[in-house]
Amino acid sequence: MPLAGKRILLVISGGIAAYKSLDLIRRLRERGAEVRPVMTSGAQHFVTPLAVGALSSGHVYTDLFSREDEQDVGHIRLARDCDLIVVAPATADLMAKMANGLADDLASTVLLATDRPVLLAPAMNPKMWSHAATRRNVGTLRRDGLAFIGPNAGEMAESGEAGAGRMAEPLEIVAAVERLLDGGAKPLAGRKAVVTSGPTHEPIDPVRYIANRSSGRQGHAIAAALARLGAEVTLVSGPVAIPDPPGVTVIRVEQASEMLEAVLGALPADIAVMVAAVADWRVTTPNAEKIKKQPGEGPPPLMLSENPDILKTVGHHTKRPTVVIGFAAETQDVENNGRVKLEKKGADLIVANDVSPETGIMGGTTNSVKLITADGITAWPELSKDDVADRLAGWIAERLI
Ligand SMILES: Cc1cc2nc3c(=O)[nH]c(=O)nc-3n(C[C@H](O)[C@H](O)[C@H](O)COP(=O)(O)O)c2cc1C
Repeated sequence: MPLAGKRILLVISGGIAAYKSLDLIRRLRERGAEVRPVMTSGAQHFVTPLAVGALSSGHVYTDLFSREDEQDVGHIRLARDCDLIVVAPATADLMAKMANGLADDLASTVLLATDRPVLLAPAMNPKMWSHAATRRNVGTLRRDGLAFIGPNAGEMAESGEAGAGRMAEPLEIVAAVERLLDGGAKPLAGRKAVVTSGPTHEPIDPVRYIANRSSGRQGHAIAAALARLGAEVTLVSGPVAIPDPPGVTVIRVEQASEMLEAVLGALPADIAVMVAAVADWRVTTPNAEKIKKQPGEGPPPLMLSENPDILKTVGHHTKRPTVVIGFAAETQDVENNGRVKLEKKGADLIVANDVSPETGIMGGTTNSVKLITADGITAWPELSKDDVADRLAGWIAERLI
């Protein structure tokens, strides 16, 4: 009973996937969780409080201004008397409210009043999911520290529509709940991992540098995912504007040379995941003073030198970790370039992604990756960077076991 004694507040909002929440209640309860449901008025058009109450074996909360419910637990206690809030399905509408701090019904008020972790399982039409407003709201909610599971890609309930927007399956949501409540398995306990993340900044002079658009989101998510599976993780991060992931040791660096030093300092390790977008070149001799414009003189020439290849160094090191993974950010011929990298760098796996500007991957919140190993190529559907991280951590655990 991995969720024995855990109290989950399940918010069901008004999407067609609400029918899957009935199964989710059953799956959570059979693992020992106590489920207290809150339904929006939208949700009640899709499933009845009677069905939800029958499956959860308790009261279903629907009204903010209900005198009985306020006397019973009250909306503030409802928001806090739980270990986790799961919103499944999370509609575009409810996420928009949450991102903007609106509280005009019981569900949104509870979500604003809570101090508990929140897991969202979005479900909507692909056009709604990819709409700029939803992208903004999802970005805001992620930055606010809310966790997401899915959506998956596939056929929609509406015929003829396909794409990203299907709610994650109940068992996937249960797995995410277990991870968040730390009730999940720890297959990487006792293993050491080193992960790099973010860009590097190569100085031109004291105020200018060469950089790239990497946000660090993917590398940070992988560090967190490995830590959740029990690994002791050192995250070597270039300059990023995102929070440190929980449960990992973070070493902050600026330049590729510092990143290499920190990575080698973290060996021996069982796992190396080199996600950072390391600058290939640095300015050979950065100016000690700010370079000034000189009247009559053109722009100053920049002489570049090659940076150390961190992945290749780790892949061929005497203390080579058992599993070495590199990320290949490519804008063309992703598969071939990935295959060449696998060979050259001595890696077990290259996670190749197309970072052409139109994909929005570099700096964005989702990723669409191909896994290239000596055995072949596996393409994953477009996933959130957190989901890519969880799947990759699972891949690593299987490989090590
Ligand atoms: C048949 C039907 C299916 C719908 N499915 C979804 C859905 O899957 N996801 C979504 O975000 N909205 C969906 N909507 C729209 C929401 O129900 C609507 O935005 C509603 O205001 C959501 O209210 P709530 O967020 O308070 O539950 C659907 C509407 C209808 C009529």
